[in-house]
Formats: sequence, C-alpha cells, structure tokens
Amino acid sequence: MNLWVGSVRSGKTWAANARIIKEIRSDILGEAMLLGTSRDALQRNVVTPLCEFIGIPTPADRANKMVLFDRVIHLLGAPDERAQRAITGSTLALAGIDEGTLMPYGLFKMLQSRLSKKDAKCFITTNPDSPFHWLKREIIDNKEIDVKVFNFRLEDNPTLDPQFVENIKKEYTGIWYKRYILGQWVLAEGAVYDFFDEDLHTILAPPTRAREYIVGIDYGTTNPCVYVLIGIDTSQFPNMWCEKEYIFDSSIQNRQKSDSEYAEDLAHFIDGYNVTAIYVDPSAASFKLECRKAGITNLFDAENDVLNGIRFQTQHLQNGSYKICKNCTRTIEEYGNYLWDIKAAKNGVERPLKLHDHTKDAERYALFTHLFNRSPERLHPEQIDQWHAEGQGYDSANLPPFFRGSPYLS
Ligand SMILES: Nc1ncnc2c1ncn2[C@@H]1O[C@H](COP(=O)(O)OP(=O)(O)OP(=O)(O)O)[C@@H](O)[C@H]1O
Ligand SMILES: [Mg+2]
Repeated sequence: MNLWVGSVRSGKTWAANARIIKEIRSDILGEAMLLGTSRDALQRNVVTPLCEFIGIPTPADRANKMVLFDRVIHLLGAPDERAQRAITGSTLALAGIDEGTLMPYGLFKMLQSRLSKKDAKCFITTNPDSPFHWLKREIIDNKEIDVKVFNFRLEDNPTLDPQFVENIKKEYTGIWYKRYILGQWVLAEGAVYDFFDEDLHTILAPPTRAREYIVGIDYGTTNPCVYVLIGIDTSQFPNMWCEKEYIFDSSIQNRQKSDSEYAEDLAHFIDGYNVTAIYVDPSAASFKLECRKAGITNLFDAENDVLNGIRFQTQHLQNGSYKICKNCTRTIEEYGNYLWDIKAAKNGVERPLKLHDHTKDAERYALFTHLFNRSPERLHPEQIDQWHAEGQGYDSANLPPFFRGSPYLS
C-alpha cells in the first residue's frame, strides 16, 4: 500500500501518476485498475495527465479499459454499480485510487482482496479526513501490512504560484484548514461554526432593501418549523444577509399546525419581498403541495449535501459576505450550539448533531442551493487554479455540465 496524503493541489496525484506509470511498465504480471470518485474525475485527474505524461492519445471519456505497455488497465468511477461488478472475480497486480477517503469502504475491501498476486501494489492519493476514517485506521496506521505514506504540503508542488498558495490558504478555516492546508487528520468536534462571533457576524439592520430575496425552510411538525429570509444584493456589503426568521415550535406552543396553516404563515412571511426562490427540506412533500395550492409556486427541493453546505456557509461568513441581522435571535443563538456529532465521528461518519440545527439547515438550504454553481469548490481543479491566479470570478457559462445548478443559473 502506497499513499500520497496531504494538502489540496500539492501534487499528490501528479506524483502518484509518475509512480503508477513506472509500475505499469514493470514486469509484474497481471492486469491493473484505476479508480476515481467518478469516471469523469478519473479521466480529468488521472487518465488524461497520465497519457500526456507518456505522450499518447487519451482514451474516450467513457472507455472502461485501456492498454498501456501491453498491460490491460481497467478504468472505473465509483460509486458505480459497474465498479463493483468489474472488481468481482478479477485478479489484479496493480491498482491506483484517486481520492481514497471518498471510496466506498465495501468497494475498497473488495479491491484489496483482488490484489492477491505476489508483489501486487496499490497506490492511493487522498486529502486527510477524520482520524477515525477507515483509511487512516485500517491502512495508514496498520502495523500488520506493508504501508508507505508520503505526506504532501502545498509547498511541495513546484508549479504553484506563491500568490495562488496565499489565496488558497485563505479559503479554508477550522477543521477544513487543518485538513486541506496543513494536511492533518483531525476530528470534527465542538461547535460546527466555532469561529462565529456576534461582533463580526451580525449586523443591526439590513444594508438595504435587497433586489432579490431567497427563503430556506426546515420543515417540521413535531420538530420546530423554521423559515429564514435572506436578502441578496451584490452592490452591497455584506452581499447576503439573513433578515427575518420564523419559528414555530409545536412542543412549546403545545399544539401542531397543519400544512395549510404553515403555507398561510409562509405567504405572510414573504409578503412584500421580491422572493425569487424558496428552498425546502427535500422531505416535506405534503407541505410543498399545500404551498402550491396557496399560490406559492417558486419552491425548489434544497440540495442536502451537509458537509459541502457547511463549508460553503463557513466561507461566506468568514469572508464577510454573509451576515445575520440582530433580530434573528434564534439563528444567532444556534450558531453557538450547533455541534459536531462526536460519537458518529468516532465511527468514521462526519455529521452535526440533530440538535439546535433548524435555523442552520434552513440557511444552508437557501445559500448552498441558490449559489451552488458559483462555488469554486465545484469547479475543475484547473479552473480553480485559474480563478485563484486571476483573483476574480469566473463565467458560469463555462461550467461543466455535471454541476447541478440553481434554477436561476440555467
Ligand atoms: N512535480 C510536479 N511537476 C510538474 N507539475 C506538477 C508537479 N506536481 C504537481 N504538478 C501540477 O500541479 C497541479 C496540482 O497537482 P495534483 O493534481 O497532483 O494535486 P493534488 O495534490 O492531487 O490535488 P487535489 O487534492 O486537489 O487532488 C496539477 O496541474 C499538476 O499537473
Ligand atoms: Mg488529486
């Protein structure tokens, strides 16, 4: 087992590719397999650079095999049904995994069992994750198996512009900084937004009447039901602010509201604002139906990618572009007591506790879903490099097709 672990953009995949080529050319007998988080990602990060390295044409985007120096190399994206099928039954001499921590555990175990040839080798690149992640516990820290780990930092990539390195360091905070910049395996513990500071992250009143408003909804019947109204105006600073909150907590009020009552409350909540989109908890089907009946039609299922959503919200709070108005007391309070689930983290699953999370979910639904396409996290690595190098935004028209967008960025 050979692992290249460390900071983003630090040259892990590049270095692993160089080594993989050497092994492909070696005289060890047997087939090889290259795995990425998706077939597209594999093509971009591994197959294309590898072929450019050797100076041969790149195989087609969807090809599931190529032959290099007389060796058959299976090309697979995971999670993907075909990956599981392709691995079952094959015996491999070499395997290369890009983004190891993102591999499904079952798939990895199966791959490991197929590397049964004497001298079989596995090459893995990855960013660090939780210290309880299986890749850390079962592979990196495993004294029983033959493991070599190469640690990478941003400074190890000779091609990065110092200005780019400066900029990318500013993009991350908290555990994300420790993992993606310092390359450490650290646990998500304590408050999710541990940097939240009322002096810095709240404002007395909205900077203006925004041209556009969006709403995030965390729906609940026995749990609290929360709406947050977020103003967006790029000519202002902050550009985005949480202006108003609605909370109905049936356990405090001692009664439940029906979906039609909630729909009526929503109509009242948005009355007078230019609300362009309402992002709702994907599970709230009956409520959405009631809203539509009540004439509220611009409802969309929220994107519920919790970790990326939290990272996104963190970034905007940190760089000052998103703030909370002081009258949103529950939203402010929950910044302090929205915590990581330590028990889950110790089992290798990263998620916040389902406590004091209602305003946080509602904000995240609205911000992340609406601005999804504009997040640099979702761009190709080369585009991110360019974006940082130029220190400016990018043209959403050039985004690759697999980025799911907000309905307003067609
Ligand atoms: N030693 C090197 N010589 C030339 N180019 C390099 C070298 N190391 C890295 N690069 C280039 O730098 C860029 C980033 O490298 P790479 O993709 O390997 O980083 P990574 O650590 O795998 O990043 P990520 O965490 O984003 O997957 C690539 O364009 C790569 O070609
Ligand atoms: Mg990489």
